Amino acid sequence: MIAGQSLKRKIATRDGAATRALAAALAAEARPGDLICLIGDLGAGKTQFAKGFGAGLGITDTIVSPSFVLMAEYRGRLPMFHIDLYRLADAAEAMAGGLIDERQAEGVTLVEWAERLADAMPAQRLEVLIDGTGDDPRLIELRAEGAAYARYVAAVPETLDAAEDGFSEGER
Ligand SMILES: Nc1ncnc2c1ncn2[C@@H]1O[C@H](COP(=O)(O)OP(=O)(O)OP(=O)(O)O)[C@@H](O)[C@H]1O
Ligand SMILES: [Mg+2]
Repeated sequence: MIAGQSLKRKIATRDGAATRALAAALAAEARPGDLICLIGDLGAGKTQFAKGFGAGLGITDTIVSPSFVLMAEYRGRLPMFHIDLYRLADAAEAMAGGLIDERQAEGVTLVEWAERLADAMPAQRLEVLIDGTGDDPRLIELRAEGAAYARYVAAVPETLDAAEDGFSEGER
């Protein structure tokens, strides 16, 4: 880890378009095998983030909530896998379904309700914690779990409202 490199950052977004713009900018950093964990209440904006991320990957198909399929796959600059664990009872069920496995090595995987993976959550990941619902602005915290994911934190556009400065590793 480079000394002082930010591993987390909070950004405020005032509407869905701003959340999508943030996600689209972050998608420029996507590499095969990446895992993006989307965490937030019902209606927080996890799917909005996924839509923006997909747009940033050049995906032209409409990205919808994958609530009724286990995993949706889209073709862009690299494949995007979109998973929603809301209806899965527990992490064991997710793992039994093979949702987080080597099939995702070729693309980037976005997981809504990722906290439901519990102990099955891979150690290396970008966490996107979205706080707020309804018409409230959202506070979106990016947390790089694993140094390789710090590049996402660094890629936040300066034009987006910085709610809070990032923390260097020593301040965590
Ligand atoms: N700042 C914001 N960021 C994201 N969405 C916002 C924001 N402000 C308002 N919204 C609205 O909140 C809703 C978020 O819906 P979305 O489906 O993305 O939530 P979700 O977290 O995926 O919910 P679920 O848990 O049901 O899957 C959208 O209607 C969006 O327009
Ligand atoms: Mg959703």
